[in-house]
Amino acid sequence: MPKLTVVNRDGEESTIEVEDGLTVMEAIRDNGFDELLALCGGCCSCATCHIHVDAEAMDNLPAMSEDEDDLLESSDHRHETSRLSCQIPFTADLDGLKVTIAPED
Ligand code: FES
Repeated sequence: MPKLTVVNRDGEESTIEVEDGLTVMEAIRDNGFDELLALCGGCCSCATCHIHVDAEAMDNLPAMSEDEDDLLESSDHRHETSRLSCQIPFTADLDGLKVTIAPED
């Protein structure tokens, strides 16, 4: 199974294996990272699934929708590698992706 590395808010790094068909948010949440609240369940309406993606992986991700862009604008912790993890299906070509859970807003 493809692997995803997650850095939590304490800077601790864990690598998890991701089942087919999950989004990055679901993979993180289902592996016990309770600091990723994902309050809206993936409907792109809460921004509590905010992550920072490793810069070199940004080009491999699906394009950002206007809704995602608007939601990220409400975060004090947005930077150029910010994404909402519920908007990224974790496909096999993202194997090895590393993401950091953004600070809480
Ligand atoms: S889970 Fe709410 S926007 Fe991603």
